[in-house]
Amino acid sequence: MATAYLASVLALLTLLLTAYLLRVEGSIGVNWGMLSTHRMSPSVVVDLMKDNRIGKVKLFDTSPAVLRALMGSNIEVMVGIPNEMLGLLSSSPASADVWISQNVSRYVVKGGVNIRYIAVGNEPFLTSYQGQFQPFVVPAMLNLQQSLTKANLAGYIKLVVPCNADAYEGSLPSQGAFRPDLTQIMTQIVSFLNSNGSPFIVNIYPFLSSYQSADFPQDYAFFEGSSHPVVDGQNTYYNAFDGNFDTLAAALDRIGYGQMPIVIGEVGWPSDGASSANLSAARAFNQGLVNHILGNKGTPLRPGVPPADVYLFSLLDEEQKSTLPGNFERHWGVFSFDGQVKYSINLGNGALKNARNVEYLPSRWCIANPFRDLSDVSNHMKLACGAADCTSLYYGGACNAIGDKGNISYAFNSYYQVQKQDERSCDFDGLGMVTFLDPTIGDCRFLVGINDNGSSSLCVRPLWILILCAFMYCKMLDLVL
Ligand SMILES: *[C@@H]1O[C@H](CO)[C@@H](O)[C@H](O)[C@H]1NC(C)=O
Ligand SMILES: *[C@@H]1O[C@H](CO)[C@@H](O)[C@H](O)[C@H]1NC(C)=O
Ligand SMILES: *[C@@H]1O[C@H](CO)[C@@H](O)[C@H](O)[C@H]1NC(C)=O
Ligand SMILES: *[C@@H]1O[C@H](CO)[C@@H](O)[C@H](O)[C@H]1NC(C)=O
Repeated sequence: MATAYLASVLALLTLLLTAYLLRVEGSIGVNWGMLSTHRMSPSVVVDLMKDNRIGKVKLFDTSPAVLRALMGSNIEVMVGIPNEMLGLLSSSPASADVWISQNVSRYVVKGGVNIRYIAVGNEPFLTSYQGQFQPFVVPAMLNLQQSLTKANLAGYIKLVVPCNADAYEGSLPSQGAFRPDLTQIMTQIVSFLNSNGSPFIVNIYPFLSSYQSADFPQDYAFFEGSSHPVVDGQNTYYNAFDGNFDTLAAALDRIGYGQMPIVIGEVGWPSDGASSANLSAARAFNQGLVNHILGNKGTPLRPGVPPADVYLFSLLDEEQKSTLPGNFERHWGVFSFDGQVKYSINLGNGALKNARNVEYLPSRWCIANPFRDLSDVSNHMKLACGAADCTSLYYGGACNAIGDKGNISYAFNSYYQVQKQDERSCDFDGLGMVTFLDPTIGDCRFLVGINDNGSSSLCVRPLWILILCAFMYCKMLDLVL
């Protein structure tokens, strides 16, 4: 009797384990940034990744709500340490211990979060930071490595440093070398990475190369072949991605680490906010990239060796990102802010699917009151677009051609949604009014915000309770065995 019971329990456990292992696959991961006022609940985003079998995610911090939602998912996670924390972590081993225990160890438990990497800073050597984080990176890494060792996690979790492609240069890929001011520090970091079996992480953006330089050949940014290939000795490059990748490979070789694995921390194409940023270009780039990676062809300097992992930038649009680099900054998502697929794309597991169980605010929009004189609206527009996202209205944006009144309505609505549809936020001295008819015009979507009322989700979503019960059931089995 008892053995039969034990056998059936074991069978069930095996089943659960198999289902668990089969669920997550593929080497294409995503970046999940959270600079948005319209945020889906983290569990909805985790379900979105699971539904689409996205098995790897890169975060920019260690948000407890996000890490809790990732518990038990088996999704491989890279957490991030903000640059601003590097000073503290470099100066004090004790603070590194606390950081690891508060932000990492507590989640790395049975049924917890599958944290595999910790990013020490994010592009800390970016030229525009003028070296302010440079002295902290290596000492912070050394302290954190000791903390990982003390926590018995050093064998499993690896420290990495995501770098921008401006850390190296070379007029041809074979001439790649690290920036002279970084040679020494890069040699230290790469030797540290090598001794831990960690990869070098780089962010590569052909979009920015083409956006910033008028003579950059358009087709060289994509993967369909180029009428301006780059000839480098025996090798010919038909796309910027391979050229950039091999420039780094050459730079690594130059300091004695030609075999170091390379992971692409960020790569992608925005879908709005510039004339070269549109849905069809974003689709062409991202699909071309994925096919290129999954084709396992590698590059001329590393034939047959594709990047170890590739993290798309980005999972979701983030409408609170700074527009300093350009209006496109808020439109990198493969999904819009609410988890809707923006263009059809296959990351290797079939066409992407939309998020489920997204909790929207009611179907209400704020528009310009058609019966009022709108000549005095400019201050209201400034207020609205200062707090909300109006980037789609500008040249190259999806809403650039919706006319004067359209512009005003779009701005009013974006503000109203950021204010969670607070009635007063649609007043604008009587110039605004609430409507129940969707004012969306063609590709120019008038959004409805997301209800990120955390506490309500337990009642609204029975799935939660199911998960909770499944979890408790497994805990019971644990006790039985
Ligand atoms: C955990 O990390 C966050 C930043 O990502 C930081 O603000 C917080 O202080 C960290 N916790 C500890 C205990 O260091
Ligand atoms: C979309 O972007 C591509 C390349 O970035 C550009 O060649 C094309 O003209 C754009 N399409 C539209 C409709 O603007
Ligand atoms: C709407 O606003 C955008 C951005 O300021 C501008 O380029 C466009 O011309 C405006 N449209 C009208 C009809 O004023
Ligand atoms: C958020 O939750 C509070 C309390 O649970 C509720 O009173 C409020 O109406 C909710 N807001 C929305 C927009 O659903």
